[in-house]
Amino acid sequence: MTEKIELTDGYKINRVINGCWQLSEGHTIKNDLDFGDVMRAFHMLTERGFTTFDCGDIYTGVEEFLGKFVLELKNGSGVSPADIQIHTKYVPDLDMLDKVDFQYTEKIIDRSLKRLNRDVLDMVQFHWWDYDVPGCVETAGYLCRLKEKGKIRNISVTNFDTAHLAELVDAGIPVVTSQTQYSVFDRRPEKGYLDYLKQHHIPMLCYGTLSGGFLAERWIGKKMEEPETRSQVKYMQVIEDSLGWDGYQQLLLILKEIADKYGVGISQVASRYILSQEGVGAAIIGVRNSRHVEANMGIFSFELSEEDIQRIRSFLKQYPTVEGEPFQQERTVGSKYRSIMWMNLSEEE
Ligand SMILES: NC(=O)c1ccc[n+]([C@@H]2O[C@H](COP(=O)([O-])OP(=O)(O)OC[C@H]3O[C@@H](n4cnc5c(N)ncnc54)[C@H](OP(=O)(O)O)[C@@H]3O)[C@@H](O)[C@H]2O)c1
Repeated sequence: MTEKIELTDGYKINRVINGCWQLSEGHTIKNDLDFGDVMRAFHMLTERGFTTFDCGDIYTGVEEFLGKFVLELKNGSGVSPADIQIHTKYVPDLDMLDKVDFQYTEKIIDRSLKRLNRDVLDMVQFHWWDYDVPGCVETAGYLCRLKEKGKIRNISVTNFDTAHLAELVDAGIPVVTSQTQYSVFDRRPEKGYLDYLKQHHIPMLCYGTLSGGFLAERWIGKKMEEPETRSQVKYMQVIEDSLGWDGYQQLLLILKEIADKYGVGISQVASRYILSQEGVGAAIIGVRNSRHVEANMGIFSFELSEEDIQRIRSFLKQYPTVEGEPFQQERTVGSKYRSIMWMNLSEEE
């Protein structure tokens, strides 16, 4: 069982999107990926209706891997390539921002088309690393020209703040969704960004919903350990600046009690909680093996009651959330959040 939403005329996506950053080179600190099993997971997911994928031009090796999956679908007899949706990103390198023009943008979009084995990109999510470098609105305009040329179906953004998204919207860029970090304990979007999206009918596609796997039973009662993936490095920082490890452990126990009532797991409650927030279109959940396919299906098997949601909210009220708007800390020069970001991956071959 799945839930879908229609974003634009006839364009439907699953409310749980298969996230593919986990498959990029350097994401797994232990280097323990089995790509055969990942391919198996992709087939299992799409056969069960989880047909929407999230990747990026800067996720090294991932567009190519999804391109191979598209070819397997083309040559198979089940789900067809037309039945899946692949959302990629356009993230010009920090060092390139002052040089970005239409030709450069088209070159990157053509590269994504080629890598993905697609005739049109279902969605391109645009990111601009540094608002102090002019050209953000103009570059979004280049994507509109490429949409007119038939190379892109939907234009979206990722990691924008309210003021700069408003600049795009006011300039007439048809922003379809916004991809933003949002989880039970990373509540930065609730400070105003989500309200702006709701007012402008732009659904939020959320990442970090499982906080790199931290929102799962296997962490109950555990001490803070060395992170296994780049996601965990990222979300460990959020835990430090919100609940702290002790508060996080208490949250796990609350989520577990709620999960037990419905016969599901913590990850499903954490996902359902985010999906139940008004303005949220979908949660993007990272896939790096076939282990969690059935658990992901369980997300749609129940609804949280208002009492469950209020219980989680009133627990969280005792704790701070990370300072600033979504991605503000990640942009701030000198902040620990920025220090772990890789900002020049697009041109890397
Ligand atoms: N726009 C951006 O800047 C940005 C940033 C980050 C992520 N993203 C997107 O969002 C996606 C998600 O990435 P994320 O970093 O936020 O990771 P996440 O989805 O919070 O966590 C993914 C990890 O959770 C575990 N997991 C997956 N399903 C599970 C389940 N049902 N139950 C328990 N554990 C489960 C898996 O780890 P194990 O297999 O080890 O258990 C997986 O590696 C990425 O792939 C990417 O597409 C975008």
